[in-house]
Amino acid sequence: MARRKYVVGNWKMNGLTGALAEAQAIFAAAADHPGVDVAICPPFTLIGPMVAAAPGGAVGGQDCHSAASGAFTGAVAAPMLADIGARVVIVGHSERREGCGESDADVRAKAEAGLAAGLAVILCVGEPRAVRESGGAIEFVLSQIAGSVPDDFDPLRLAIAYEPIWAIGTGLVPTVADVAAMHGAIRGALAARFGDAAEEMRILYGGSVNGDNAAELLGARDVDGALVGGASLTAAKFVPIVAAAA
Ligand code: G3H
Repeated sequence: MARRKYVVGNWKMNGLTGALAEAQAIFAAAADHPGVDVAICPPFTLIGPMVAAAPGGAVGGQDCHSAASGAFTGAVAAPMLADIGARVVIVGHSERREGCGESDADVRAKAEAGLAAGLAVILCVGEPRAVRESGGAIEFVLSQIAGSVPDDFDPLRLAIAYEPIWAIGTGLVPTVADVAAMHGAIRGALAARFGDAAEEMRILYGGSVNGDNAAELLGARDVDGALVGGASLTAAKFVPIVAAAA
């Protein structure tokens, strides 16, 4: 079974004036490419308004707590995301692993919470520059996969996003051969653990994806889509990436 391409915008902590109009334009243009699944993950405060402004668009969170409720000041639970119409949640982004000290076990618990709430989960992994330069990138990422991917899930609702940390927001991109090698290694590790279900799982690439490099990256073996940061903030930059996936 062919895997559908999946292009996800991670708006990070961006999105003020005009943000909802951009989201509307992105989802409207995405309708021209029905073979591509498109989602936008804005800051928490924009999820409800975006769901209202773009009914039918897949909107998601950039994180969730592992608990369903409780005394966790400042946190947002996965069922709360689902309750306001979110369909997706990103977990384990390197900006949270590094900036907020999230461990593989934390990421796994968040992924389990998202799945339990009925959300599609995008689980991020990726190596720092020093690890890439030392030749240990695949071993590093497979360790993250082993520690953060839950045991039990619908393979169509859990995607992996491979994002080399040194490629995020830098304009640097691995060679297509290196991306394909990493995605193949991730697929192999998933197959060893989950059997045929690994063939259904989508593995996205993230890190300085733009309209110029998307077609080549998305054409690589085992690359099933993209997790896009900076180039997802406007329809002018994001829609060409969606088109490249079609
Ligand atoms: O989640 C998205 C990634 O961190 C990639 O960000 O496209 O700005 O490099 P970027």
